[in-house]
Amino acid sequence: MFQAVLFDLDGVICDTAEYHYQAWKQLAEEIGIQGVTRKFNEQLKGVSREESLKRILDLEGKREFYSDEEFSSLMKRKNDGYVQMIENVTKEDVYPGIEFLLTQLKKKGIKIALASASKNAPFLLEKMQLREYFDAIANPNEVKSSKPAPDIFLLAAEMVGVEIVESIGVEDAIAGIEAIKSAGALPIGVGRKEDLGEDISLVSSTSDLTIEFLERAWAEKR
Ligand code: BG6
Ligand code: MG
Repeated sequence: MFQAVLFDLDGVICDTAEYHYQAWKQLAEEIGIQGVTRKFNEQLKGVSREESLKRILDLEGKREFYSDEEFSSLMKRKNDGYVQMIENVTKEDVYPGIEFLLTQLKKKGIKIALASASKNAPFLLEKMQLREYFDAIANPNEVKSSKPAPDIFLLAAEMVGVEIVESIGVEDAIAGIEAIKSAGALPIGVGRKEDLGEDISLVSSTSDLTIEFLERAWAEKR
């Protein structure tokens, strides 16, 4: 049996992936870039703030038009917009089934860790009153490479003292699924096979993310 579940946050625990999208789209349009569509956004999911901005500027070959200082101020502008959007997040915003799953995992003594790329994740966990369930929160500032590199999942497993191969990772983004795979944990996707691949266990809604589902996926794939 698995000994730890390593959760992504945006798009897995709550709908903040949508706010990241809205905040990037708004910034992009303000600087004259129109290509931040939902389809393009799939490749921003799970990706760090810095890398996301690079990809957006690259849409129109605009990366070299901005100095390092201007680049930082664009990242800040996006984050300011995003922080405003998440200001009113509450317990009500937790996706269906998530809190119940956390309760069940706790009862079974399975470790729970957060492996989010977002620097706003601890703030959101507090807002949703979920902090107490988490045995560890891996800090994205402390890892060398961001998703799709495995670093944040490796750190999360290490922080709860569980071998990565004894862990499940839950993700809504292709970058995150790749990170889990290369870390050596078992990936579970929240989303569509068109976006996340055919070779992993998937749920289309977090309400299907039950402990029984995780146990079945573990028995089948491990
Ligand atoms: C990930 C999101 O969880 O965190 C990305 O999926 C986001 O969209 C990344 O860019 C970094 O988040 P933040 O809050 O530190 O800018
Ligand atoms: Mg996510």
